[in-house]
Amino acid sequence: MRLCLKKASLTCLSGLRRGNRGSGVPPTLNLCRESQLPTLRFHLTGTKYSCGSGGCGACTVMVSRYDPKTKKIHHYPVTACLVPICSLHGAAVTTVEGVGSIKTRIHPVQERLAKCHGTQCGFCSPGMVMSIYTLLRNHPEPTPEQITEALGGNLCRCTGYRPIVESGKTFCAESTVCQMKGSGKCCMDQEENISEVPFVFCFVEMCTKLYNEDEFQPFDPTQEPIFPPELIRMAEDPNKRRLTFRGKRTTWITPVNLNDLLELKTSFPEAPIIMGNTAVGPSIKFRDEFHPVFISPLGLQELYFVDSTDDGVTIGAGYSLAQLNDALHFIVSEQPKEKTKTYHALLKHLRTLAGAQIRNMATLGGHVVSRPNYSDLNPILAAGNATINLISKEGKRQIPLDGRFLEKSPEANLKSEETVLSVYIPHSTQWHFVSGLRIAQRQENAFAIVNAGMSVKFEDGTDTIKELQMFYGSVGPTVVSASKTCQQLIGRKWNDQMLSDACRLVLDEIYIPPDAEGGMVEYRRTLIISLLFKFYLKVRRGLNKMVRTTSLGLWAPWPPGHEMPGNKITCFVREQCVDPHQPPQDPVGHPVMHQSAIKHTTGEAVFVDDMPPISQELFLAVVTSTRAHAKIILIDTSAALALPGVVDVITAEDVPGDNSYQGEIFYAQNEVCDLCAVICVGQIVCTVAADTYAHAKEAAKKVRIVYEDLEPRIITIEQALEHNSFLSAEKKIEQGDVEQAFKYVDQIIEGKVHVEGQEHFYMETQTILAIPQEEDKEMVCTYVTLGTYLFQEYVAAALNIPRNRIACHTKRAGGAFGGKVSKPALLGAVSAVAAKKTGRPIRFILERGDDMLITAGRHPLLGKYKIGFMNNGVIKAADIEYYINGGCSPDESELVMEFMVLRSENAYYIPNFRCRGRPCKTNLPSNTAFRGFGFPQGIVVGEAYITAVASQCDLTPEQVKEINMYKRTSRTAHKQTFNPEPLRRCWKECLEKSSFSARKLAAEEFNKKNYWKKRGLAAVPMKFTVGMPTAFYNQAAALVHIYLDGSVLVSHSGCELGQGLHTKMIQVASRELNIPESYIHLSETNTTTVSNATFTAGSMGADINGKAVQNACQILKARLEPVIRKNPRGTWEVWISEAYKESISLSTTGYFKGYQTNMDWKKGEGNAFPYFVYGASCSEVEVDCLTGAHKLLRTDIFMDAAFSINPAVDIGQIEGAFVQGMGFYTIEELKYSPEGVLYSRGPDDYKIPTVTEIPEEFNVTLVHSQNPIAIYSSKGLGEAGMFLGSSVLFAIYDAMAAARRERGLTKTFTLSSPATPELIRMTCVDQFTDMVRLVRRAPC
Ligand SMILES: Cc1cc2nc3c(=O)[nH]c(=O)nc-3n(C[C@H](O)[C@H](O)[C@H](O)COP(=O)(O)OP(=O)(O)OC[C@H]3O[C@@H](n4cnc5c(N)ncnc54)[C@H](O)[C@@H]3O)c2cc1C
Ligand code: FES
Ligand code: FES
Repeated sequence: MRLCLKKASLTCLSGLRRGNRGSGVPPTLNLCRESQLPTLRFHLTGTKYSCGSGGCGACTVMVSRYDPKTKKIHHYPVTACLVPICSLHGAAVTTVEGVGSIKTRIHPVQERLAKCHGTQCGFCSPGMVMSIYTLLRNHPEPTPEQITEALGGNLCRCTGYRPIVESGKTFCAESTVCQMKGSGKCCMDQEENISEVPFVFCFVEMCTKLYNEDEFQPFDPTQEPIFPPELIRMAEDPNKRRLTFRGKRTTWITPVNLNDLLELKTSFPEAPIIMGNTAVGPSIKFRDEFHPVFISPLGLQELYFVDSTDDGVTIGAGYSLAQLNDALHFIVSEQPKEKTKTYHALLKHLRTLAGAQIRNMATLGGHVVSRPNYSDLNPILAAGNATINLISKEGKRQIPLDGRFLEKSPEANLKSEETVLSVYIPHSTQWHFVSGLRIAQRQENAFAIVNAGMSVKFEDGTDTIKELQMFYGSVGPTVVSASKTCQQLIGRKWNDQMLSDACRLVLDEIYIPPDAEGGMVEYRRTLIISLLFKFYLKVRRGLNKMVRTTSLGLWAPWPPGHEMPGNKITCFVREQCVDPHQPPQDPVGHPVMHQSAIKHTTGEAVFVDDMPPISQELFLAVVTSTRAHAKIILIDTSAALALPGVVDVITAEDVPGDNSYQGEIFYAQNEVCDLCAVICVGQIVCTVAADTYAHAKEAAKKVRIVYEDLEPRIITIEQALEHNSFLSAEKKIEQGDVEQAFKYVDQIIEGKVHVEGQEHFYMETQTILAIPQEEDKEMVCTYVTLGTYLFQEYVAAALNIPRNRIACHTKRAGGAFGGKVSKPALLGAVSAVAAKKTGRPIRFILERGDDMLITAGRHPLLGKYKIGFMNNGVIKAADIEYYINGGCSPDESELVMEFMVLRSENAYYIPNFRCRGRPCKTNLPSNTAFRGFGFPQGIVVGEAYITAVASQCDLTPEQVKEINMYKRTSRTAHKQTFNPEPLRRCWKECLEKSSFSARKLAAEEFNKKNYWKKRGLAAVPMKFTVGMPTAFYNQAAALVHIYLDGSVLVSHSGCELGQGLHTKMIQVASRELNIPESYIHLSETNTTTVSNATFTAGSMGADINGKAVQNACQILKARLEPVIRKNPRGTWEVWISEAYKESISLSTTGYFKGYQTNMDWKKGEGNAFPYFVYGASCSEVEVDCLTGAHKLLRTDIFMDAAFSINPAVDIGQIEGAFVQGMGFYTIEELKYSPEGVLYSRGPDDYKIPTVTEIPEEFNVTLVHSQNPIAIYSSKGLGEAGMFLGSSVLFAIYDAMAAARRERGLTKTFTLSSPATPELIRMTCVDQFTDMVRLVRRAPC
């Protein structure tokens, strides 16, 4: 096989086999390892593996092929995890290493992504580079829209995308990046331009410059590597032959021409045809499908063509969806509009179908034949009367792509020996209307919740229906045709009565059973008729231009309004300017690039999964419980142990020390005691150690476990309350006399708020390398974590050895967000036990699905409130109760509840205030720390009752917030004194600078004119806390060595998770030692240099480690003082050399005792936090009431940063947290079965924001204040932005309230989070939701 990897030598399959240590490479093996064999990545570490299902883009590479017909080279992005290596014969593959490298030359794409601060943890960065790079190979001067389109398939959990998009836009012909350019001033800074900018900037001390475009290398597209000439020769070779790759169980055959393909199809009728592999690949991987033979005609010329005639267009089955998109664009530009309605409908869906990579891989033929029930194109093709051209050895035939084909009716199907040659799509006609409609959880790269293709033909010159077709996706196991409904409407006029009957008929025809897969039954039924209504209106608009039709009445008081706005991202950041008197060498306060940024973008940053194989290493696969609460009767491992490559199965019996440590269980035990029954689905029962991950995984499936269910099975908070099931005692704070105050208020309201959980979805899953040493029971562990001491503690407990035998190393984490505090410790114990038992190194990398299942996430919350207030909006009394779902073990739940209660008042002073909270114990995997630590959930309750009070008092929520906000130096409800001045400043500036009032009026005007679209605005203030109420958690240590060449090595107790901690520490050391940053190196965090390191959490990583580094540097500086005094003109290197000769120690530890916080829970008072961070944000959304989709139009954030050590890092944290928060409050939804089984286990069913979700206009300002307690008067900003995402939630509520008011519903409605499309649609009640509730059909 010939496959060319740029910058790697031409590689052949035998080379791969060697890499696989003799186990044989199956022909189905994907380019990015499917089986956790780093060697299969040719020792190239850049291409990352995060989901394995094509849904995240971390593994993006560029494939280039030569087309001998057009003589052109086609470059396209693919997700390597779904690309079978055998399919790449004749292709050139460029990985991020081939784009550029530190060792040779970095590419402008890599440089700009790094310098624009578009990388934090760096795990997504190589994929981002590859997406932009591939775009540039095809379009050297792309448009901003092309940039966002190219990035749609790449997930980033850290940055919030703004800087990534911005780096891409630097390649646009006209840079739309709003940054200071070179020596010129940013347009935003110039007074005379203020009328053109969204708001006026008048802070003389503010800068907008986070990077300097003048430093960028120019981009010269002619300098890119050429396509390997030998692959051109190969493609043009007239004597090509059939290619066959034989593996142990499977054979891969690439036919040489169409006849050969037909021959093969006759010989192997059951063999799948592999084109994009985007349907077959996931089935093999996730649904255990097996095929002994694969036929891959990818690149077969006969399948690639476009044939346009007067009546329609025929498109070759081999065309990728991206090529189909291009072809259709060409056709619509050539043909009159009336002929192109089907093509327009297809183009609309092609824009949002998956991401760019999948669109470039998936083919038209594969899409049509695989017929997924969620198919976006098939319903439109069917509505447009497309036909499929088939070919076999028997000859050619045509079948209609109609309802019977889509419903997989056997007589309308392909014969097994047939191949799809092409698809014919007829032109539409004047009296023919075709539309595609869809709604998904996320705008792009998400399967539709419901989609539809609809068409209607009228008798010429009339509005009488001649032909009607309606096809719906995602409402059943296949795409469904509403053929009976359509039949009954033939001959009817296109009017309201017809629509009314059509809705009734279609609801009757399409039945979604109550227990249907995917749930959301009522919502999906509502969508069936809402989409029909949209189609009705669209056709009506078209018809109105052609004939007189009956006027709109009952059904359509308003037109549906415009399409949702597109995604034109503009952004603006403002930060402090550094004091002009600060020495130029001092980097503190400057937007210094992340220390590893270039390594991230070149793929040279090494993550644990990238570490080369270790001799004798074994891979671990987990067997997890399938029951929520059960006794294990039997664990039968015999079948697993008999499989090749399997070395051992590890169970609870193999744990030499504690199997249950601090309430956390490592391996489930097969006996029933208080702690050792299986207590959740996803609990680790045993692990399998084998020579490859594929073997371990295969064997794990063979372990047989017999359970006996136990009662009770507690899944929800409500069930826990019923059973009085809690993880810890109640936490309470109280001020004033709440009961008394309720007696004297004008009004009292009570309510409940549900806030659902959240998955961390860090891009790098939990990964551990445990290496047992020969001597003294030592164990070396490399892993990703936020807390090295916790990891060491758990491993020591499980192995029953002292902690000084366990060396823990962590260099970087591909995102963490709280999910890598306690869970790595548990998984570390699990792997260390396996390493101890087998005596061999263990590589334990959780697959995405296992990671989501086992490690859980943010605690769901049930909040209850009772609020007493005056008619003028002044709140006099609040009684709040919090219950969180802690899951099956303690983890951090008690601490999360403490934080939640302490922060419950947020920015508001309520004189009589009580908050109580308890974590519930349930049979779900144990929830854990997550950015914001309870604040993002808890505070929604506060904002909800403020909104409810506003509604009762006929005030806006913002007015009630203003009325009740802290105004002067005060004491919190837990009696800690603080000055809210920065809070008020952020709030005031946020409202003023975002023109809140004017935009609110504009939104009201918009709402008056639009019945089905509503706009909403909301602003939220924030008082957030930094640090821990327990003083010893606030300590930190550092170790600084100066070497004789003057170079400095800094170690400290914090972990680098992408948040730029090491970068800030280098800035601190540079200022303190008065040396350039380039002299300072920071390698990793480990337990051998800094012991007992507390976890990097509470937004105080830079605060406390900064103080420890500062302390160490100041000690060293003091030691050097005499030497410097003696030779003041000397250089750093000279002073170091002289100090050495004077026997001055050049190494020292630094220490920070920690902020002296305290909290007395008996009294409910204390100085719980060292300081507060304040902020405010304002968001504006537009909601589509008919589908529940929303679009975020604009967000303004004002964050009190005091003095930022690194504005680029801090703005990155704020934006990243905001977007993560926005996802939490809107589209991220975890789904469980009533039995406690997690359904959402990957990017297919759990949607984090993509680049299309971020605000169209995104403005971030750092507000200056004083914070003398912290290093350089800075503030910790790692988490605070998370809650500000709730401004989107409340803006959505504002829009929904407007819709409900117009429909005569003025009563306050229950608020819950996330505001998913389902929730939005079902809250905007109307005639369609009413109809669904009325028409409840029993199954036939
Ligand atoms: C991450 C991801 C996101 C996605 N998002 C969406 C989405 O939003 N909307 C949507 O509609 N779809 C979506 N899809 C599905 C995607 O559109 C289909 O998987 C794709 O179109 C299948 O094409 P393929 O070339 O990859 O098929 P393959 O996987 O190569 O083949 C699929 C099937 O088609 C058969 N086949 C292929 N070509 C022929 C032929 N010429 N003749 C006869 N049989 C043939 C094969 O035998 C096989 O059974 C997504 C897929 C992924 C992986
Ligand atoms: S790892 Fe390939 S797309 Fe996620
Ligand atoms: S930088 Fe994108 S996932 Fe971390």
